[in-house]
Amino acid sequence: MTGELSPIDKAKFVAAKRAADMVEDGMRVGLGTGSTAAWLVRCLGEMVRNEGLKIRGVPTSTRTAELAREVGIHVISLDEAKWLDLTIDGADEFDTDLNLIKGGGGALLQEKIVATASDQMVVIADVGKEVETLGSFPLPVEVIPFGWQTTQALIEETLVSMDVLGRSATLRMNGDRPFITDEGNHILDLHLNRIGNPRQLALVLNQMPGVVENGLFIDICDTVVIGFGDGKVEIRDINEGTVETDRLDFVESDNLFTDLAD
Ligand code: A5P
Repeated sequence: MTGELSPIDKAKFVAAKRAADMVEDGMRVGLGTGSTAAWLVRCLGEMVRNEGLKIRGVPTSTRTAELAREVGIHVISLDEAKWLDLTIDGADEFDTDLNLIKGGGGALLQEKIVATASDQMVVIADVGKEVETLGSFPLPVEVIPFGWQTTQALIEETLVSMDVLGRSATLRMNGDRPFITDEGNHILDLHLNRIGNPRQLALVLNQMPGVVENGLFIDICDTVVIGFGDGKVEIRDINEGTVETDRLDFVESDNLFTDLAD
């Protein structure tokens, strides 16, 4: 079954599988959103069902909540958990300081709230997500629907004085309608190409009235588990650099590999 996975899916899977081993009995775990995080949820579900792992999961989107329940994870809200031991989530880009762009799946707001309420955030990503400088991936910004075009204009005007290469913002669509987040907001994708000062940009964006949150995760991620298409996994820690390089064997598992939907 794994033979049918593309190298990128294998890379996502091995990163997720290695990160699942960091989860211990009794933990309250933040469950990310996206295709890599979906692998993690499936791996954790298998550990719950087959190994009796006891965890409570706080999902970062309705999609993840549905999948987590489906695979047998005990789902609770963030307010029930209050604080989390660990959050594991994907990313659209990570740089050498382990700063991130997130929100490609539109769940950045809940993802940032959950990650910030955790002792530790572990990112799982295929090696293609690693960049020297953030910004090739369009930066998602969640905005209030009221006056979103005015907010867009304000953002574009502000970008003129920022250390970025591009300045256009586009409204994310879902077919012929604006994409709506789990919190009922819109997403503007900022096409910046290169973000020279992500910390400054994150602060400036969040000061604008119509902006709810931006997809720059600065000083939030502690560890990145990087997956490669050949099964190699590298663990990079914010303080210690690369702490582990390993290769995971693919184990046939119908439960994990039959349903590849995000
Ligand atoms: C969801 O809103 C995002 O932050 C995802 O974590 C990110 O887009 C990575 O998704 P993939 O794992 O599908 O690449």
